[in-house]
Amino acid sequence: MNSETRLRVLGISGSLRRASFNSGLLRAAQELAPDIMEITIFDIRELPLYNGDVEAQGDPPSVIALKSAMRGADAVLFATPEYNLGTSGVLKNAVDWASRDREEGSLMGKPATIIGAGGRAGTARAQMQLQLTLAETGSLVMVKPGVQVQAFAPQQFDSEGNLLDETTKELLRGHLDEFMKWTLRLVRPGEFVGHACEMDVVRIPGQQ
Ligand SMILES: Cc1cc2nc3c(=O)[nH]c(=O)nc-3n(C[C@H](O)[C@H](O)[C@H](O)COP(=O)(O)O)c2cc1C
Repeated sequence: MNSETRLRVLGISGSLRRASFNSGLLRAAQELAPDIMEITIFDIRELPLYNGDVEAQGDPPSVIALKSAMRGADAVLFATPEYNLGTSGVLKNAVDWASRDREEGSLMGKPATIIGAGGRAGTARAQMQLQLTLAETGSLVMVKPGVQVQAFAPQQFDSEGNLLDETTKELLRGHLDEFMKWTLRLVRPGEFVGHACEMDVVRIPGQQ
């Protein structure tokens, strides 16, 4: 790493709520990130529900914007709430759209990590579900050290969803430091991008 090295990280929150704790975690991450890391937050609220017919007519502008932001980033930082033990539908939908991009710089081979704030388990179960989905997209997900914030603990967040707790900030800072190293260590060879999803590569023997 030299002094010129810059890491562009795309931050995506799985909550559309104005005072979302997860969006607050991403804003805190912007403040706490190592000097070489710049986190840009992408708002997924304009994305339509994934529909193959819509896709066949050409990506809507919000999907083009998502894919473009993804390609322009060296890594992706997801912040997920937990809804009924899983990630939010809107975040899964965003990942599904993004996974349809097979160009260089898409989720395939992209370093990624997940943080989250929520109930008693601090989104741990939602994170596990999202890890599985991201693994299928070919993203290279850093799981440890991990950030699972119990959002309803006193003094954790203010009423606007801004992170207050200094211990949590230190945890987040440590996670981002490790994510920086993870991203710098990873090589994204061109051939990795060439993999398509399973449905595209499975061929029935004897048929074209
Ligand atoms: C539909 C729904 C389902 C939820 N399910 C869970 C759950 O399974 N486990 C949990 O810990 N919290 C659950 N919650 C609470 C949310 O995780 C919590 O409100 C969290 O703060 C939402 O994230 P946000 O602050 O970023 O909007 C649920 C909330 C909603 C609206």
